[in-house]
Amino acid sequence: MSQLRLLDVEAGLPSTDGLAQRAAEFCETAPHRQDPYGRRNWGGTLHSLCSYQGKLKPAIGHFLVSWFTEPGWRVLDPMAGVGTIPLEARRQGRVAIANDLSPLADCVSRAKVEPFDPRDVATIVDDLAAFIKGGPALEQVEVEDDLSFGLNGPIRDYFHADTLREVALARRYFLLTEGLQPAARDVVRSSLLHILHGNRPYALSRRSHPVTPFAPTGAFEYRSLIERLSERLGRVLPLLQELAEESPPGESHLGDFRELVCPTIDAVITSPPFAKSFRFWSMNWMRLWFTGWEREDFGSEPKRYLETEQRQDFAAYGEFAVAMHGLMRPGGVLVMHLGETASVNMAEELSPLIDPLFEIQHVGRECVLDTESHGLRDKGATVAHWYLFATRRPG
Ligand SMILES: C[S@@+](CC[C@H](N)C(=O)[O-])C[C@H]1O[C@@H](n2cnc3c(N)ncnc32)[C@H](O)[C@@H]1O
Repeated sequence: MSQLRLLDVEAGLPSTDGLAQRAAEFCETAPHRQDPYGRRNWGGTLHSLCSYQGKLKPAIGHFLVSWFTEPGWRVLDPMAGVGTIPLEARRQGRVAIANDLSPLADCVSRAKVEPFDPRDVATIVDDLAAFIKGGPALEQVEVEDDLSFGLNGPIRDYFHADTLREVALARRYFLLTEGLQPAARDVVRSSLLHILHGNRPYALSRRSHPVTPFAPTGAFEYRSLIERLSERLGRVLPLLQELAEESPPGESHLGDFRELVCPTIDAVITSPPFAKSFRFWSMNWMRLWFTGWEREDFGSEPKRYLETEQRQDFAAYGEFAVAMHGLMRPGGVLVMHLGETASVNMAEELSPLIDPLFEIQHVGRECVLDTESHGLRDKGATVAHWYLFATRRPG
């Protein structure tokens, strides 16, 4: 593929000439499926900073950034999940802005895009260790924290009693220190979230699944939270520091995309929840609990999410168009990665809602039935991915 320049030299402004042609070429050639990008683990350890149900394949993010934005652009993903697109944007010299309504997603994105001082990371781990050491016994912790909550079994069934105490106190520590050195704190917290449950030797839980904490099996063995956390940090910290040396810092925001406030954006690239992906909170339940959700939040919070809203209709995407139009410069690029199920084609549903404020340049389909699973999110429901490319209308 010969890269088309997106720079309008005369105006001195980034332009979108050639966008439709490039978009058609992207959909035809699907560069993210070519070797080595199509390999399961392409993208490296930082993309796996913390498992997340619903995560995009990093190679898709990689090519959407490299083909449709320019170095230096401010690139926003307003529903960023764990920051796959923002991380790719940052790696490629763009200013990455992430936003998500989920505290779990925001935490992981912040660790990937915001600058932090590694000395703060060390201090936070020491502080956390002291907080755990000086904390109350499990019996007392259980009086104050609801460890009988859980969606595939109570939290207390997942861990050895001593590890359970450490996990509950670590959760408390992060909730109490909210707002202090947020990026360094979220580097530590993301690393802990990653090892919280799974079937690998590093997991703190009994044997479960690394993405979704299915009911645990196996022996109750003590696993030291601080030891395992330190091992995990030993792996990811050098990679984050290397990233910081080579790439511009970005920002992560927690909230509804309709309420986001940030400086003018050049491109929005996003992969909203696919139709029928309405159980995200149960799939990510233990990590959502760790980042602050309580038992009752699992009843009330999901109503605020698009996953739930779009079960009725797609009207929220009209609001999405208004919000993005308000944040972007005229001519700015919008790319959406959407899902098609047997009964709903999101690209068809969304196009008329986007069209009044964005000029649609290209809409293309990629069949995914012949590929390996794109994660738990796609299982069963999604038959194709769609890409919608548009430019912000003036005014
Ligand atoms: C399919 S996931 C995005 C995954 C992401 N591309 C990644 O690789 O991790 C969709 C995201 O939209 C977020 N979301 C849903 N409703 C939202 C809203 N109203 N405002 C902001 N984010 C929202 C969800 O929390 C979820 O993380």
